[in-house]
This record gives sequence, structure tokens and C-alpha cells, in this order.
Amino acid sequence: MNSADVQVKIAQLTQQLKDHNYRYYVLAEPYISDLEFDRLLKELQFLENEFPEFADPNSPTKVVGGGLNADFVTVPHRRRMMSLGNTYSEEELRDFDARVKKTTGAEVEYICELKIDGLAISLFYENGTLVQAVTRGDGVQGDDVTENVKTIRSLAKQLHGNYLPSFEIRGEIFMHRKGFDKLNDERIAKGEEPYANPRNVASGSLKIKDIAEVAKRPLDITLYHFLADDIPFTTHFEAIEAAHSWGLKTAPQTKVCKGVDEILDFLHYWDKERHNLSFDTDGVVIKVNNLALQDELGFTAKVPRWAIAYKFQTESATTTLLNITYQVGRTGSITPVAELQPVHLLGTTVKRASLHNANEIERLDVRIGDTVFVEKGGEIIPKITGVDFSQRKPDSQAVSYITHCPECATALIRNEGEANHYCPNEDGCKPQIIGKIEHFVARKAMDIDSIGSEAIELLKKYDLVHNVADLYDLTEESFAVIKAAEDWKTDRSGFVNNILNGIEASKKITFERMLFGLGIRYVGETVAKKLAVAFGNMEALSKADKEALIAVDEIGERIADSIIQWFGRTEHQELVLRLKQAGLQMETQGVAAKLSDTLSGLTFVISGVFTKFSRDEAKAIIEANGGKTSGSVSGKTDYLLAGEGMGPAKLEKASSLGVKIMSEVDLLEMLGNPQTTSQNQSTLF
Ligand code: IVH
Repeated sequence: MNSADVQVKIAQLTQQLKDHNYRYYVLAEPYISDLEFDRLLKELQFLENEFPEFADPNSPTKVVGGGLNADFVTVPHRRRMMSLGNTYSEEELRDFDARVKKTTGAEVEYICELKIDGLAISLFYENGTLVQAVTRGDGVQGDDVTENVKTIRSLAKQLHGNYLPSFEIRGEIFMHRKGFDKLNDERIAKGEEPYANPRNVASGSLKIKDIAEVAKRPLDITLYHFLADDIPFTTHFEAIEAAHSWGLKTAPQTKVCKGVDEILDFLHYWDKERHNLSFDTDGVVIKVNNLALQDELGFTAKVPRWAIAYKFQTESATTTLLNITYQVGRTGSITPVAELQPVHLLGTTVKRASLHNANEIERLDVRIGDTVFVEKGGEIIPKITGVDFSQRKPDSQAVSYITHCPECATALIRNEGEANHYCPNEDGCKPQIIGKIEHFVARKAMDIDSIGSEAIELLKKYDLVHNVADLYDLTEESFAVIKAAEDWKTDRSGFVNNILNGIEASKKITFERMLFGLGIRYVGETVAKKLAVAFGNMEALSKADKEALIAVDEIGERIADSIIQWFGRTEHQELVLRLKQAGLQMETQGVAAKLSDTLSGLTFVISGVFTKFSRDEAKAIIEANGGKTSGSVSGKTDYLLAGEGMGPAKLEKASSLGVKIMSEVDLLEMLGNPQTTSQNQSTLF
């Protein structure tokens, strides 16, 4: 850039930032995220540093701390305006009390007040008259907004009674939800974007230059912090009561509490009751009541040691979508992940949320830089439930979904009718290779707990394992390579032996669990079990056609297609062969070995629900012992295996045809397994 270009760029950025400031502070209608604003500000700052001669004397970079508006006079605070330490946990509240008690050595009296979600203001009264109102700004200096604050109807501009001649009092300016809704209704009627929340509007209202316009905003105020050079009160509560008696608005929901248990009662009460208030509160502020003790406790660099804010848990919150990243799962499935400006939700800080797939991004019409609504609902993983379109920046762009794998750069595929994109590079894409091994060794699959993430990373790093069959080729020598390269100083033979022993032991794991461990798409634990029972061995399963697969209870087309596709790949056939050669279980335990002929020639109809096995298991038990099953009672039926809740029609038909009715216990006894339960039913086969 030549210097003329820089001059133009500085002028552009300056104007842009001024406009954004105006939108943010005056209209309470920001167009861009704080992050984006900061980025622009930094860019301008950088250029101004290099070329100070082009800087605007009223440049937005001259405004300290971001909260100050150059159009209002900035004044230093006579006493710093601190913020509060906050917590979401009762335990930390007890810690706070313990710290306070360390100083006093005795039970402490606290004041609990609602924490109003508005903006802090500092007021000065001289001889009973409001002389100045200053916003918090950066805590050291704020904006003089006296004229705007005077429009607040509930605020006494002139005190009465026995007031102190000179004092400062701080509080919160806020808007009731009803007033906010009315304001928004008017905006919507005019075709304007509604405001996002009462706090933003309250904050913006204080920066409007037209006083008549400010007066139209239904603002309210609550005062909660009394300051003066020689305070003639012993406690915070007394000071607030006195201010109230002079005509100042203080919070009615304030309570003196002794000890943590009384504080907790207050918290629990207001956590429920807050929904019935006319304004938003996001927590409770707990303050040491005694002013001398407050002084003794003092401040840390940022916050008072004599007060803490306990914040209520929220089920939903708004935050900014900073970016979308893409994760590759073990099956190659791509999951877009929302990277969020961290936000507190139900006890945890949420930084990421799943966006599921491209359809979901389209459905939400979510874009990077958007203000989004995040909810935690019943699930543990947070969800983005919507976008606050009123905050969308005009230059935002629709998300263009990735076309190539973020890990291995292979072109992604999307099967017809499927929502997810896949990376087909199964054997060359690192997260897929690692994910498959992790899944295979997991507790519910091969249960090789000696292979944790460290072992997997090492095995992959030294190129010893590309797929699960490679695990069975590992020997002590394989680890010698790692040992030498990693320069292991300590004796790690235990680590190595555990891995090798774990692998050896896994050869005894049942076929159904091994099948689950293979990680065939849609073949979860239950499906694997059903397949193992229905086909009996790997050979039969690998040859099963779609019809045979669909005939299995709960196996639909989607699963059947996935299984056929999996076994159709030569690499998988080789993999299975190697696993077989390694000695893994390739048959449903006992189906071949323990198959009896006890029920041969008998046909059963199964009806109702059982306690010792599922209906599928009952069917498998009968078939494994030579019997047949049929769906309806007929002259050919020998037994009706009757469970709980069986239909009366079936029972009637069976009786009329002379079909014998048996219970699950009868069946087990017939097979000579009177104690068998569903947990060990496999011994039946
Ligand atoms: S006392 C040094 N009391 O919460 C103590 N603050 O997160 C200063 N707030 O900046 C604050 N209700 O804007 C106090 N009853 C209350 C409050 C309250 C709301 C706000 C205030 C403060 C912020 C700290």
C-alpha cells in the first residue's frame, strides 16, 4: 500500500468503526460481533501507529476500553468501579464464606440481593440533588450520561429527608420485559428488526443524544452500593435503607442471611421465583453486611473480597458462532462443529456444538459471525437451536460446505438420500484409522483395555498398525522399534506385556462383540447380536444377500446395504481372513457346537413378552435346538410359548386346536436348563 492508499484505508476504517459504535451504543443494534469489531479496531490501530499523521483526532481507537463513547464526555471515576467475582457452584460459595470467615473467625452476616441484568451506573448527589451520572466504562473512567439518566422516571433527582450532603451511589439501569416487548412490537410494526434483549436496549438508550428520544425508553433503576468518605452507617443494609428513606429506589428482594445455608435458601427460592419477576435477573449478589469488615477484606486486583455473584444456571444462551470446523469420525462420516464464543450453560462452559450435517446448517441458515441460540435441553451435547437474525451482519455469507476431507484431502462423497458426507479414504485417513482401532479395542467390543490412546498413537506413529488385523501381528520385537526410537528410559515392559496379553485374550471374545468391533456402519451392539444369532458365523453373514439380511428382525434396508457394501470390499475380506487366521471367534458361540436336537420336529409359536429372554432370543434358542418357529397358530403348531401380555385370540385359537401352551420356564426345563437367565442364555446353545 502506498501512503495515499493507507490514508484512504484509515479513513474508511474510522468511519466504519464509528458507524458500528453508533449502532451498538445508540441503536443497541450491533451489526457485527465484538470479535469482528476488535479485529477492525486492531487493524486501524496498527495503521495509525505506522502513519499517525492520518489518524482522525476522534478516532475510535482513542476510546478507552471499548465501553466509552467519544460523543459523551469521559470522566474519571472517583472510586474505581469494580466488577464481581462470580460462581455457578454452591461449593465455591462455601469456599467464599470460608475465606471471609478466616478473617472474622466467626459466622458472618451477609446481604443477598438479586443481580439485575442491566448496566451499572454511578450517581453523585450533592445537597440532595443528582449532579452526575457516569457509566461504568472501563472501570477507571466512564461516560457522563447525566442528562439521559435524568429521564428515568423512577429515579429521584431531588432527595428528601435527612440525606447525607455528599455521596455516591451505584446501581443498575434496566428495562422491564413488558416495556421491552412493547418497544419491539412498535419496531416490528414499523418493519424494523426487533432488539435482542432488554439489557442491550437499556445500554443503548443511555447513549442516545436526543433526550426526548431517551425519555421514550421505559428505563428503570435499582441502587445497591452506597459510597461516601465518612459513612455514618455500620452496615451495607443500613446504608441502603437510608438511601431508600431519602427517596432512592432500592431492591425490595434483599435479605439479611447468616451463614451459607440461609444464603442457599435465598438462592433456591429465587432460582424458581425469578421467572415471575417483571425483569431479568441472572443471579444473586452476596455481600458482607458489615462495612468495617468489607474494608478489612478489601479487593483483589479486579473484584471485592467481600462480595460474590452466584449466577443462575441457564438452559439456553446466546453466543457468537466464531467458526465451523469439520470432524472425521471412524466411519469417515464428516460432522460440522460450531466453534462458539465460550458461554456458560447448565454448569459447563460451552465452546462447541455439533451442527450434525450440511442439511442442518442449511435448515438453521447459520453463518459464521452470527449470534446463535444455544440450548442444552436433556442432552449433554449442546445444540444450536436458531440464529438471531436481527444481529446478522450485512456482509455475512452463507456457509460453503467443505468438498474435501479436512484430514486427508480426499474428495468427500454423499450417498443419495443420506444427510452426511463421507471421506472414502478408509485406510489412509488418520482419524478413521485411529477411530476404528479405538472402537475395536473398546470395552463393549474386544475389551483390550491395555490399548489406550497413548498406545494407539504410538502404534500409528511407527506405522505398526493400519487396521485392526495388524494388532494381531504385533510382537515384542515390534515394540523394540518403538522403544529405541522413543528412547524409553524407564522399564516399560509392563506396558508392552499388557498390550500383548490384552490382544491375546481378545481372541476369546465372542463373535457378536467382534462383529460389533469391526465398526461396520449402522452395526451397533444390538444389530451385531442379532446378526450373530441369525447367521451363526462370519462365513454365512458375509455371503448373506439383502433378502436374507432384511428377514432378520430389526434389520432394514439401510443396514442391509451397509453390510453388503462392507463385505463387498476386498480389503475387508482380507481383513476378516487375517482375523480368522489370528484365531478370533468367527462363530456364534455354541450354535454349531452345542446345537441339540431336543426340539427337533416341533413347531413353536412365540407370543407375548418374556423375562428370561427376548423374543428373538427365544426364537434363536428354539432353532438352535432343532425346533422350528412360526408366526401364527395352526394345526401344525405343537407349542405356544406364552409370555406376558399375549393376545387372547391366539390363546383361544391354541386351546381350540389343542396346541400345548408352555411358559418360558417350561421351555428352559425342556432343554435341561432350569436356572438359565437371559444373562447367560448363550450356554443354552
Ligand atoms: S455490587 C464492588 N450488587 O453485576 C461491587 N452489582 O458482575 C460492585 N449487578 O458491575 C457490584 N446487581 O453491574 C452489585 N445487587 C447488585 C447487582 C450488581 C447487578 C451488576 C453490576 C456489576 C455486575 C458484576
